[in-house]
Amino acid sequence: MNKKLKAIGIFTSGGDSPGMNAAIRAVVRTALYHGIQPFGIYRGYEGLIDGNIQPLYSHSVSNIIQRGGTILKSARSERFRTAEGMAQAWAQVRASGLDAIVAIGGDGTFSGAEEFARSYPFPIIGLPGTIDNDLFGTDYTIGYDTALNTVVEAVDKIRDTADSHERLFFIEVMGRDAGFIALRSGIAVGAEDILIPETRTDLDELIDRLDTGLRRNKSSSIIIVAEGDELGGAYAVAERVKERCPRFRTRVTVLGHIQRGGAPSCLDRVLASTLGYEAVTALMNGMQGVMVGQVDRKITFTPFEYATKHHQEINRSLLDMARILSS
Ligand code: F6P
Repeated sequence: MNKKLKAIGIFTSGGDSPGMNAAIRAVVRTALYHGIQPFGIYRGYEGLIDGNIQPLYSHSVSNIIQRGGTILKSARSERFRTAEGMAQAWAQVRASGLDAIVAIGGDGTFSGAEEFARSYPFPIIGLPGTIDNDLFGTDYTIGYDTALNTVVEAVDKIRDTADSHERLFFIEVMGRDAGFIALRSGIAVGAEDILIPETRTDLDELIDRLDTGLRRNKSSSIIIVAEGDELGGAYAVAERVKERCPRFRTRVTVLGHIQRGGAPSCLDRVLASTLGYEAVTALMNGMQGVMVGQVDRKITFTPFEYATKHHQEINRSLLDMARILSS
């Protein structure tokens, strides 16, 4: 330990994710254990700019490990993208007496932190909080596992009705730029196909596969569509399939924000607790400008630039596997 920290701030930013509260709890309790005063910064970078900063105590984080959402609120800040907004945030950091900040969020959050650090020399350390799992430097982001379980539970229910009515369902899951939720949940629900932004979607191939299913007397088909697929979301894809093949009895479900809520899974609670604990220790050891993650069960520190720009690779062979297994 080479740094005597007196006060650290913590905020959540961008799309919320289940497990953010568990991470806040871990940061607060670890800081207090080391005699550091934690401060909650409300609504992410917005709160930093406005000076919405309050001390947190052990009881402030009681009974939150099991709760979805974030007690610190979250926002996507346009103001923080401007030089003026950053200057205001810096003035608030100076006035508040904070020695460091733990930022919980996704790529937007870390790009902001990286940009801020270019102009203002201030220690920020990141925790990966997003359901999208699209950050390089961690096997799992906080919230991904819970979101997957939510999707699987919902799609299993849809499968029941799809089967009864012998229908083809297009189900849209989140993932503006990444297909991790679609791919993994698609495997888990035995989806007949999975459409993701990382691979080109071939409509002819999709229709062929669906036809083969019909010939084999499949009584239902589920196509998982990541919202960022280049053909468009589930409605757009369903429309194009219907135009060409009116014989399919199609329906569309968009799961939407249900994927971001709910009690975090055990995996997310343990991950968030571990990473929150490690973040404080890392700050005390003088680390900054990195995201704390876990790869192969080991704690890792990835510079923000790497975490956001070297997106985790999709394992394309899993897509082939999913298609074979559901054929
Ligand atoms: O970044 C997480 C995420 O849930 C994406 O998967 C999704 O595209 C986006 O947030 C939705 O954001 P908002 O709640 O701001 O509409």
